[in-house]
Amino acid sequence: MQQIINFDSFYQKGLACLSQVGDAIHNFVDEAPQAAIYGVAILSTAFLFVATHTIWLMYFHPLSAFPGPKSAAISNIFNFRTIVSGRSVWIIKALHEKYGDVVRLGPNELSFATADAWKDIYDRRKDGKILIKDPKFYRVDDTYRAKHIVTASDPEEHAQMRKMMSHAFSSKALLDQEDVIQHYANGLVDAIYERCTRGPMNLVDFFNWTTFDILGEMAFGESFGSLKNRQTDSWIAIVLDSVKFTAWGVAILKLPLLVHFEKYIFPKHVLAAGHTHAIQSKNKILKRAEMHPERPDFASYILAKREALEITDWELAAHANALIVAGSETSATTLNGLFNYLTNYPDVYAKLKQEIRGAFSVGTEITAARAAALPYLTACLEETMRIYPPIPNGMPRVTPPEGCFIDGRWVPGNTVVSLHMWAVTHNPVNFKEPNVFRPERWLEKTDRLDASKPFLVGPRMCMGINMAWIEIRILAAKLVYHFDFEMINKRNWCEGQQCYTLWQKPAQWMTGTPAQPRPIPTEL
Ligand code: HEM
Repeated sequence: MQQIINFDSFYQKGLACLSQVGDAIHNFVDEAPQAAIYGVAILSTAFLFVATHTIWLMYFHPLSAFPGPKSAAISNIFNFRTIVSGRSVWIIKALHEKYGDVVRLGPNELSFATADAWKDIYDRRKDGKILIKDPKFYRVDDTYRAKHIVTASDPEEHAQMRKMMSHAFSSKALLDQEDVIQHYANGLVDAIYERCTRGPMNLVDFFNWTTFDILGEMAFGESFGSLKNRQTDSWIAIVLDSVKFTAWGVAILKLPLLVHFEKYIFPKHVLAAGHTHAIQSKNKILKRAEMHPERPDFASYILAKREALEITDWELAAHANALIVAGSETSATTLNGLFNYLTNYPDVYAKLKQEIRGAFSVGTEITAARAAALPYLTACLEETMRIYPPIPNGMPRVTPPEGCFIDGRWVPGNTVVSLHMWAVTHNPVNFKEPNVFRPERWLEKTDRLDASKPFLVGPRMCMGINMAWIEIRILAAKLVYHFDFEMINKRNWCEGQQCYTLWQKPAQWMTGTPAQPRPIPTEL
């Protein structure tokens, strides 16, 4: 049966309803305290502001044309969570696979993944424009986060620091450094001969002990004694722990309102590790300042300029600290990466053994110059730093206020930009079968080899690149010469690791079988 709608009654009911709402508003205005009215007004205005701002960020902001997750476009919460998760390498790589070569990572941030973007973001540009280091990433203050060679963002100030340290990286200094490296490399070989008879060993420890002892001697005038004691020194343990502290410090600046509450938000152990580490470093460098070593070390060059450049105690500690972390963790990571891939790719390992064992008749013949003449060793190390770069994430820079072109795309001024190292070195456009460890690609030169820049390029590229090559060549050659390693529970140890700028490396258990008679032990 057809239902008859009574429009009159609807109309009457509607009017009654409206008049009730009107009465309620009148009553509220008459009876509610003034503060509540202001509260509602403020909340409505705030809601309107957030809604229009969100729409502006998504559809009208100068970066709105760049693709990326909507949540990243409207707030930095996405960015914050990505950083503190420790999974940023994998998350950003997946975003590039989904959205393409350029991804909007935050309201004001872009990530690039093309080989041609290297020169536009990091190198000296033809148009003379400079993209400075992002001060929100390279966070500094006047105390334990004092500015140092890695974090200084002002180009002039940085140039002054770089000049001050350039002597420490001169050819003359490199010769001295090789002596120190040889000493600890022989100590490492000895430690492994001693340890390998007792079953599997964790190579992460052995490489950390060696590279931190080398840098400790160069920056603080004394090694940490880890290799000698076969035990990780507490300073090193804290450095490795405090990497998370730095990551949290960066992440929190993405949400400026939270900065005031950071001491409540940071995990307690992370905060404690950061503070303890800074204070210990200051004490160590002040102790070094009282010493007068015969052979100049990194500290000598910084201390010589201490008064002229008015370097504070915190800055002294920060420089020494930065050199140690930049120089040791990265080299150790490369070596762990190398032995992971060698033990997973027996043909490559066999070829490298043949090259190294064929070139030397005793381990003491292995020098930096002779190791540099071995093409397959260099190819293996290049391939390790491509497939497992020690610093795999993008290092953020800021575009100049007037904006600039990056890889043919116009990017507005004051935008944070970076090139995602992992995404660019694992892209099949640049490297055929990017997940396969194939050192031959560095000899055949058919891939886009210039896409891999583990030391970066331009005025902020690694200052220790020559020292790093000496170190990793000598250590790798000596270990391949002396031992046959095998990984326990063979798997790709590099896969799925967490990363807070530097990798959080799990234990790497290996057996080592001596391939040569044990040399005379080195006194450490
Ligand atoms: C395999 C080993 C190494 C790798 C992959 C590596 C990589 C890098 C990268 C990517 C940067 C740029 C960081 C940024 O933009 O924020 C850098 C900077 C730096 N590295 Fe290395 N590094 C290595 C070893 C060393 C060594 C042995 C030293 C010696 C102490 C060293 C000292 C430095 C310094 C002083 C800087 C700052 C340069 C500047 O801003 O002027 N690095 N390194």
